[in-house]
Amino acid sequence: MPLIVVASPKGGVGKTTIAANLAVALQQQGRRVTAVDFDSQDALKFLLTDDPQQGLGIARCVATGRPWTDAALPGRAGLRLIPYGESTPAERLHLKAVLDEDALAYALGGLLETDDDILLVDTAPGEGRLQARLEALADIQVIVLLADAGSMALVPNYRDGLLLRPANKGLPETLAILNQVDPRRRLSRDISQFIAEHHGGRFIGEVHYDEALSEAAACGQTAMEAAPDTLSARDIQAVAAKLDQLLRIPAQVG
Ligand SMILES: Nc1ncnc2c1ncn2[C@@H]1O[C@H](COP(=O)(O)OP(=O)(O)OP(=O)(O)O)[C@@H](O)[C@H]1O
Ligand SMILES: [Mg+2]
Repeated sequence: MPLIVVASPKGGVGKTTIAANLAVALQQQGRRVTAVDFDSQDALKFLLTDDPQQGLGIARCVATGRPWTDAALPGRAGLRLIPYGESTPAERLHLKAVLDEDALAYALGGLLETDDDILLVDTAPGEGRLQARLEALADIQVIVLLADAGSMALVPNYRDGLLLRPANKGLPETLAILNQVDPRRRLSRDISQFIAEHHGGRFIGEVHYDEALSEAAACGQTAMEAAPDTLSARDIQAVAAKLDQLLRIPAQVG
């Protein structure tokens, strides 16, 4: 399935920001993107649509047995957004309980229409059951890490050192993005250089610390549209182009 899962063992590292901007970048590069929010914070919609919200999203679709296309909203740059939507605690628990791998594959498969379609999903922080099932279905998992000591300390233990092992030949299915790289800060610079020298195969790119991203978010926008010539927008365009390429090599995917 042409599915990109944006995830991270850590919270607040920029998953939603990266997911939204990558989704717009891929759409701008000619793919048909459906962005799906699997985080009950329901934050992706603030960046990707200004359509009046009905509150319907995957949580209520699952609770009521409706197809996820019922929750689709027109999003930025022509992409399609399936929000998490409003939910009660019972609906959130229900969603985690019933979305086993088969149910998830069926629901996500129902969103695909053409060969150019990409599903890009944002997830809640951590490594819960839902994240594991999404990962099992994904062609590419993008792990967002910060260029700081806390994120780097996680790398050796993340999935038994997966990010430290050389990538498989062909497509590595788990790739990391180093986010909020700030060349003015020595530690950030050193981490970025170390990653580039030693783990280049597992890191698909870095995204600079750039207020253009947070300022765009404050206006309910992505930098890809609001500030496309900024450093961070160009970083994300570069990552999107690499992901696009990887998804076009079916023999090596998944
Ligand atoms: N490269 C960046 N430069 C500057 N600010 C950034 C960058 N990436 C993310 N941010 C800001 O960091 C904050 C957290 O980002 P975001 O909400 O995307 O993180 P998250 O990983 O999705 O959080 P959560 O774990 O709660 O879902 C936001 O204010 C966002 O605007
Ligand atoms: Mg988030």
